[in-house]
Amino acid sequence: MAKQSVWMCFTLTFMSAILAFQAVAFTAPSDVTALQDFYEALNSPPQLKGWRLDGGDPCGESWVGVSCSGSSVIHLKLQGLNLSGYLSAQLHNMFNLKTLDVSSNNIVGEIPYVLPPNATHINLACNSLTSIPHSLPAMKSLRHLNLSHNLLSGPVGNVFTGLQNLRELDLSYNNFTGDPNSFKSLANLTGLFLQNNKFSRSVAYLVELPLTNLNIENNDHQINFSNVFQEEHKSKIKKKDISCSYVHCVYWGWPSIG
Ligand SMILES: *[C@@H]1O[C@H](CO)[C@@H](O)[C@H](O)[C@H]1NC(C)=O
Ligand SMILES: *[C@@H]1O[C@H](CO)[C@@H](O)[C@H](O)[C@H]1NC(C)=O
Ligand SMILES: *[C@@H]1O[C@H](CO)[C@@H](O)[C@H](O)[C@H]1NC(C)=O
Ligand SMILES: *[C@@H]1O[C@H](CO)[C@@H](O)[C@H](O)[C@H]1NC(C)=O
Ligand SMILES: *[C@@H]1O[C@H](CO)[C@@H](O)[C@H](O)[C@H]1NC(C)=O
Ligand SMILES: *[C@@H]1O[C@H](CO)[C@@H](O)[C@H](O)[C@H]1NC(C)=O
Repeated sequence: MAKQSVWMCFTLTFMSAILAFQAVAFTAPSDVTALQDFYEALNSPPQLKGWRLDGGDPCGESWVGVSCSGSSVIHLKLQGLNLSGYLSAQLHNMFNLKTLDVSSNNIVGEIPYVLPPNATHINLACNSLTSIPHSLPAMKSLRHLNLSHNLLSGPVGNVFTGLQNLRELDLSYNNFTGDPNSFKSLANLTGLFLQNNKFSRSVAYLVELPLTNLNIENNDHQINFSNVFQEEHKSKIKKKDISCSYVHCVYWGWPSIG
């Protein structure tokens, strides 16, 4: 009998501890797990104040850089925190994440195969990332993608096909090669930044896009712009300088024809 009541007491204490924990920890468990894995992949840096490897409540405890709506994490803004390590593959479980900004850190390795599927803004600029994920066409909500100033290389192929909502794409300062023909399906693209890569061949299809801001400086010298853009197309794309505080500023200018 005594044994039984001790057991009962233990069970009740245990259950109320669980209830108390649940009352505090209202962040969606899948988001908590994803953030813990994210933290671990970055080597648990002390700059991420409040973050934990186990337990915790990112929304309730205001982990640095984390913003929530209800129990869902919707923004992750961790720019310029001297973060190193890798990007966690668990990011794909963050269904409600709208913004992912880890720009200006020292993150290395490949970009995870699947990024947060409903994100609208992704900024991975100014890191040391080495490959683009071929699952990008599935990201139908994406509006702004910034991969500039990384170590990305190789042909872009069809990676950017069908991103109907994409407004701005910045691939500048990488080593991309080949013919960026998958850009022609980006029906809503207004800003395209390809400068300082090794893109080559025709860029004629860019004329069909609603671009107001384009930079294609310092690519393969074989690109012949003179027969691609007629004067009417040139005037459609407004002159605009590009602010770039990171390495140096590039100003828009038509490449010399030759
Ligand atoms: C950035 O982190 C590295 C270790 O990853 C450290 O050696 C360096 O001092 C840090 N730099 C700054 C400015 O905190
Ligand atoms: C987010 O993405 C998932 C899977 O891609 C989809 O099922 C879900 O409807 C999306 N949610 C929102 C709010 O867009
Ligand atoms: C691009 O490639 C060249 C040589 O192939 C290398 O020197 C340079 O550092 C690379 N740049 C980037 C941004 O990866
Ligand atoms: C994107 O472009 C397509 C085709 O021009 C258009 O039907 C669609 O409404 C656009 N989407 C947005 C969000 O503007
Ligand atoms: C570029 O195209 C123009 C117009 O078609 C042509 O006159 C010129 O010779 C071409 N330049 C090169 C380097 O191919
Ligand atoms: C991409 O990020 C870099 C570094 O933060 C920034 O300089 C650049 O302006 C961004 N590109 C766009 C199109 O916003």
